Amino acid sequence: MKWTAAKLKALKGEKKISMLTAYDALTASLVDDADIPAILVGDSLGMTVLGYETTLPVSMNEMLHHTRAVSRGARNALIIADMPFMSYQPSIAMGLENAGRFLKEAHADAVKVEGGAIRAELIESLVKNGVPVLGHIGLTPQSIKEMGGYKVQGKTSEQARKLMDDAMAIEQAGAFGVVLECVPAELGEMISKALTIPTIGIGAGAGCDGQVLVFTDLLGMSGKPVPKFVKKYAYLHTLISEGLATYKTEVEEGVFPGEEHTY
Ligand code: KIV
Repeated sequence: MKWTAAKLKALKGEKKISMLTAYDALTASLVDDADIPAILVGDSLGMTVLGYETTLPVSMNEMLHHTRAVSRGARNALIIADMPFMSYQPSIAMGLENAGRFLKEAHADAVKVEGGAIRAELIESLVKNGVPVLGHIGLTPQSIKEMGGYKVQGKTSEQARKLMDDAMAIEQAGAFGVVLECVPAELGEMISKALTIPTIGIGAGAGCDGQVLVFTDLLGMSGKPVPKFVKKYAYLHTLISEGLATYKTEVEEGVFPGEEHTY
């Protein structure tokens, strides 16, 4: 069954939603084969696969290239393209045009934009023009320079109230869901209870309606430290490193290729 934004939204209160990032056809097919209903082509690809320090340098062309590859690899999952830094902030018109490119040129099913009430007008325009939108509040990595680091958000009652208002504004604007990143579990649960659209948490506790993680973090691929909210379900960095070291040794010692690999 092909997932749509409406079907994902309808899961609220029925079933917890799993979502995972993917960056190419291979990772998308693995996520799709696991029956995970939604794939986020996150701009985290800047760090996970492109070697940037932050998400800020990621361009529209890079996002389109990777979203196209994900679309080729997934049959059923809802494909959500992350709008990169400065592809929607300058104007509503620019946001509409770039979101349209994700649907027309890269076969995405929806887009994600960072920011709360400040994005309400954009979200409303996108939805009215046929583009399903996932919001994203809390720790928003495209504002890392302004936030001053990757820190838990919404710790004071004033900040918590602001995040609640932002979540409400996103729902009112017509988004089908909202990502809550790095907020106290209690606030994650309060926002989830207050909204009629699903909340997708990443470091926002078990009270959210769903969870999203970064593919390479969940599978332990990078060998670098990961945030506290990540659970590693595999340790691929170790496995891959061991495989590569054995290959090198076997080539050097003439063990590979063996009879069975030879014509
Ligand atoms: O870019 C990304 O992968 C994200 C998720 C971490 C929510 O925005």
